[in-house]
Amino acid sequence: MPASPFRALALAAGLASSPAAALAVAPSDLMRGYENAARAASPSFAGFSADRGGHLFRTPQGREWSCASCHGEAPTGTGRHAKTAKAIKPLAPSANPSRFTDAAQVEKWFRRNCGDVLGRECTVQEKGDILAWLLSLR
Ligand code: HEC
Repeated sequence: MPASPFRALALAAGLASSPAAALAVAPSDLMRGYENAARAASPSFAGFSADRGGHLFRTPQGREWSCASCHGEAPTGTGRHAKTAKAIKPLAPSANPSRFTDAAQVEKWFRRNCGDVLGRECTVQEKGDILAWLLSLR
Protein backbone atom coordinates (compact mmCIF):
# COMPACT_ATOMS: atom_id res chain seq x y z
CA MET A 1 0.00 0.00 0.00
CA PRO A 2 1.40 3.44 -0.82
CA ALA A 3 2.00 5.68 2.17
CA SER A 4 -1.40 7.08 3.12
CA PRO A 5 -1.76 10.63 4.34
CA PHE A 6 -2.95 9.21 7.65
CA ARG A 7 0.13 7.12 8.07
CA ALA A 8 2.31 10.07 7.10
CA LEU A 9 0.60 12.18 9.75
CA ALA A 10 0.93 9.47 12.34
CA LEU A 11 4.62 9.28 11.49
CA ALA A 12 4.91 13.04 11.77
CA ALA A 13 3.29 12.86 15.18
CA GLY A 14 5.87 10.28 16.22
CA LEU A 15 3.52 7.34 16.25
CA ALA A 16 5.54 5.19 13.88
CA SER A 17 5.91 2.44 16.44
CA SER A 18 2.22 1.54 16.28
CA PRO A 19 1.21 1.56 12.60
CA ALA A 20 -1.84 -0.62 13.17
CA ALA A 21 -3.15 1.77 15.78
CA ALA A 22 -2.33 4.92 13.83
CA LEU A 23 -5.94 6.03 13.59
CA ALA A 24 -7.18 5.37 17.10
CA VAL A 25 -4.89 6.63 19.80
CA ALA A 26 -5.16 7.91 23.34
CA PRO A 27 -4.24 11.52 24.12
CA SER A 28 -1.29 10.16 26.08
CA ASP A 29 0.03 8.46 22.90
CA LEU A 30 -0.15 11.76 21.04
CA MET A 31 1.59 13.43 23.95
CA ARG A 32 4.42 10.90 23.79
CA GLY A 33 4.71 11.45 20.05
CA TYR A 34 5.00 15.22 20.53
CA GLU A 35 7.56 14.68 23.27
CA ASN A 36 9.74 12.52 21.02
CA ALA A 37 9.42 14.99 18.15
CA ALA A 38 10.22 17.97 20.41
CA ARG A 39 13.28 16.22 21.80
CA ALA A 40 14.46 15.41 18.28
CA ALA A 41 13.87 19.02 17.17
CA SER A 42 15.68 20.63 20.07
CA PRO A 43 18.32 19.14 22.36
CA SER A 44 17.36 21.78 24.95
CA PHE A 45 13.73 20.58 25.08
CA ALA A 46 12.73 20.81 28.75
CA GLY A 47 9.24 19.32 28.72
CA PHE A 48 5.80 20.75 28.09
CA SER A 49 4.12 23.39 30.21
CA ALA A 50 0.37 23.41 30.83
CA ASP A 51 0.69 27.03 32.03
CA ARG A 52 2.31 28.11 28.79
CA GLY A 53 -0.28 26.15 26.81
CA GLY A 54 -3.18 27.78 28.66
CA HIS A 55 -1.72 31.23 28.10
CA LEU A 56 -1.20 30.57 24.40
CA PHE A 57 -4.73 29.19 24.08
CA ARG A 58 -6.45 32.18 25.68
CA THR A 59 -4.35 35.07 24.35
CA PRO A 60 -4.67 36.54 20.84
CA GLN A 61 -1.39 36.08 18.99
CA GLY A 62 -1.35 39.28 16.97
CA ARG A 63 -4.41 38.35 14.95
CA GLU A 64 -8.08 38.82 15.62
CA TRP A 65 -8.75 35.47 17.30
CA SER A 66 -7.33 33.34 20.07
CA CYS A 67 -8.08 29.63 20.35
CA ALA A 68 -10.59 30.61 23.03
CA SER A 69 -12.51 32.78 20.55
CA CYS A 70 -14.05 29.58 19.20
CA HIS A 71 -13.34 26.96 21.85
CA GLY A 72 -14.13 29.14 24.88
CA GLU A 73 -11.98 30.31 27.80
CA ALA A 74 -12.88 27.02 29.52
CA PRO A 75 -12.84 24.34 26.80
CA THR A 76 -14.49 21.85 29.16
CA GLY A 77 -17.68 23.51 27.92
CA THR A 78 -19.26 23.95 24.51
CA GLY A 79 -17.55 26.50 22.29
CA ARG A 80 -18.99 28.76 19.64
CA HIS A 81 -17.39 29.44 16.28
CA ALA A 82 -16.36 33.11 16.16
CA LYS A 83 -17.47 33.48 12.56
CA THR A 84 -20.30 31.01 11.93
CA ALA A 85 -21.63 30.92 15.55
CA LYS A 86 -21.92 27.13 15.25
CA ALA A 87 -21.59 25.18 18.49
CA ILE A 88 -18.27 23.36 18.96
CA LYS A 89 -18.14 20.35 21.28
CA PRO A 90 -15.79 20.67 24.26
CA LEU A 91 -12.11 20.33 23.38
CA ALA A 92 -10.86 19.07 26.75
CA PRO A 93 -10.68 15.25 26.80
CA SER A 94 -12.13 15.16 30.35
CA ALA A 95 -15.36 16.61 28.94
CA ASN A 96 -15.24 14.98 25.50
CA PRO A 97 -13.40 11.63 25.40
CA SER A 98 -13.34 11.52 21.59
CA ARG A 99 -10.89 14.45 21.50
CA PHE A 100 -7.24 13.74 20.69
CA THR A 101 -7.92 10.14 19.69
CA ASP A 102 -7.37 10.54 15.93
CA ALA A 103 -3.90 11.78 15.02
CA ALA A 104 -4.84 12.77 11.48
CA GLN A 105 -7.81 14.80 12.66
CA VAL A 106 -5.80 16.49 15.38
CA GLU A 107 -3.01 17.46 12.99
CA LYS A 108 -5.49 18.71 10.41
CA TRP A 109 -7.21 21.04 12.87
CA PHE A 110 -4.00 22.16 14.54
CA ARG A 111 -2.72 23.17 11.11
CA ARG A 112 -5.89 25.06 10.17
CA ASN A 113 -6.54 26.70 13.54
CA CYS A 114 -2.95 27.66 14.28
CA GLY A 115 -2.94 29.26 10.83
CA ASP A 116 -5.99 31.33 11.75
CA VAL A 117 -4.66 32.35 15.16
CA LEU A 118 -0.88 32.59 14.70
CA GLY A 119 -0.59 32.99 10.96
CA ARG A 120 1.61 29.88 10.84
CA GLU A 121 1.65 26.27 11.96
CA CYS A 122 2.14 25.62 15.67
CA THR A 123 5.49 24.17 16.67
CA VAL A 124 5.55 20.77 18.29
CA GLN A 125 6.43 22.56 21.56
CA GLU A 126 3.28 24.69 21.26
CA LYS A 127 1.08 21.70 20.42
CA GLY A 128 2.45 19.77 23.40
CA ASP A 129 2.00 22.76 25.73
CA ILE A 130 -1.64 23.17 24.60
CA LEU A 131 -2.39 19.46 24.92
CA ALA A 132 -0.78 19.42 28.39
CA TRP A 133 -3.09 22.26 29.42
CA LEU A 134 -6.20 20.65 27.92
CA LEU A 135 -5.36 17.38 29.70
CA SER A 136 -5.01 19.24 33.01
CA LEU A 137 -8.61 20.57 32.82
CA ARG A 138 -11.24 18.78 34.91
C1 HEC B 1 -12.32 30.19 14.01
C2 HEC B 1 -12.68 29.19 14.99
C3 HEC B 1 -11.58 28.39 15.64
C4 HEC B 1 -10.44 28.86 16.24
C5 HEC B 1 -9.99 30.29 16.39
C6 HEC B 1 -9.73 27.69 16.73
N1 HEC B 1 -10.44 26.55 16.45
FE1 HEC B 1 -9.89 24.64 16.89
N2 HEC B 1 -11.52 23.91 15.91
C7 HEC B 1 -12.49 24.69 15.30
C8 HEC B 1 -13.43 23.85 14.61
C9 HEC B 1 -14.64 24.30 13.80
C10 HEC B 1 -13.00 22.52 14.83
C11 HEC B 1 -13.63 21.24 14.23
C12 HEC B 1 -14.96 20.92 14.81
C13 HEC B 1 -14.84 20.08 16.03
O1 HEC B 1 -13.89 19.30 16.12
O2 HEC B 1 -15.70 20.19 16.91
C14 HEC B 1 -11.81 22.59 15.66
C15 HEC B 1 -11.12 21.50 16.11
C16 HEC B 1 -9.91 21.56 16.80
C17 HEC B 1 -9.11 20.41 17.16
C18 HEC B 1 -9.44 18.95 16.87
C19 HEC B 1 -9.36 18.10 18.13
C20 HEC B 1 -9.91 16.72 17.99
O3 HEC B 1 -9.28 15.76 18.46
O4 HEC B 1 -11.01 16.57 17.46
C21 HEC B 1 -7.98 20.91 17.77
C22 HEC B 1 -6.79 20.13 18.30
C23 HEC B 1 -8.10 22.35 17.82
N3 HEC B 1 -9.29 22.71 17.23
C24 HEC B 1 -7.17 23.19 18.40
C25 HEC B 1 -7.20 24.57 18.31
C26 HEC B 1 -6.15 25.43 18.78
C27 HEC B 1 -4.87 24.96 19.47
C28 HEC B 1 -6.50 26.71 18.49
C29 HEC B 1 -5.68 27.95 18.68
C30 HEC B 1 -4.33 27.98 18.08
C31 HEC B 1 -7.81 26.65 17.84
N4 HEC B 1 -8.19 25.33 17.76
C32 HEC B 1 -8.51 27.75 17.38
C33 HEC B 1 -12.55 26.07 15.30
C34 HEC B 1 -11.57 26.93 15.79
